[in-house]
Amino acid sequence: MNDALRALIEALERDGALDAPQRLRERIEALDRLDAWMPAAAGDALLQRAQTIRQRLEAIDAAQFGALRQAIRRGEGRDALLHWWRAGGAAACRPGDGYDWLDELVGGVLPFGEPGEVSALAPEMVFYQPTPARHVLDLLDRLALSGDDVLVDLGSGLGHVPLLTAICTQARGVGVEIEPVYVQGARACAQALQLENARFVQGDAREADFAIGSVFYLYTPFTGTILRNVLDALRGEAARRAFRVCGFGPCTAALAAESWLVGDGEPAPGRVAIFRSKG
Ligand SMILES: C[S@@+](CC[C@H](N)C(=O)[O-])C[C@H]1O[C@@H](n2cnc3c(N)ncnc32)[C@H](O)[C@@H]1O
Repeated sequence: MNDALRALIEALERDGALDAPQRLRERIEALDRLDAWMPAAAGDALLQRAQTIRQRLEAIDAAQFGALRQAIRRGEGRDALLHWWRAGGAAACRPGDGYDWLDELVGGVLPFGEPGEVSALAPEMVFYQPTPARHVLDLLDRLALSGDDVLVDLGSGLGHVPLLTAICTQARGVGVEIEPVYVQGARACAQALQLENARFVQGDAREADFAIGSVFYLYTPFTGTILRNVLDALRGEAARRAFRVCGFGPCTAALAAESWLVGDGEPAPGRVAIFRSKG
């Protein structure tokens, strides 16, 4: 392990060009590798060298994340974020729920504030886990939202989906989340980034205002009777007007089984599935 860490340290010390802005992805991935190996590092000298590199790379990334936040406040966040998404091979959206460097980038840019203590969830409510950033950007690209759209994330956690909707599209993003600490973090982020088209409602998704959404998003936020109640409410809404419903993770199978929904476009295994209400 120490040999691998030493080889990595030597490579990073030699690679002065790694400090260049366009090498953001490589820096994030190098930091990940350092973090994975540092706990096993024996010997003060090796650890000290690893920490020096880490501080250097983190400082460069922090400045770049700050510049991205400024771009978002100027209303230029879409191009700034999509630049990195495209640079990372946007078209080939890797399926599955694993995280990668783009999540580190988005996590570094979005200022959620200090995390507080969260409460235990009731049965059938699924713990927080954000949708990987590449899937959110891939979804927003496929949805092609207009300024008339309202995307409602049912069980929005810290709000990545509504926040990225507000940053990257003309649409409004609304998050409905039962855990007050997450809602507080999402609101703090929207305020810090001056995102007027992102809004967060604290409450149970069963009580959500289903009349406002043109697109509903669910990353398996709940199961069983709660999911049934929410799908029934959406079906009731679909009797009045058309909208889209998007699913990621295990809840996608439940959406696919709804007779009032039809798949929109090519099936995308391991990616977010998009459905249309039949009306
Ligand atoms: C898997 S996470 C998805 C987070 C977010 N949608 C995303 O993709 O980044 C599920 C979220 O649903 C929330 N949740 C669970 N049951 C809920 C309910 N009945 N009403 C509102 N939110 C709920 C959880 O607290 C958690 O934050």
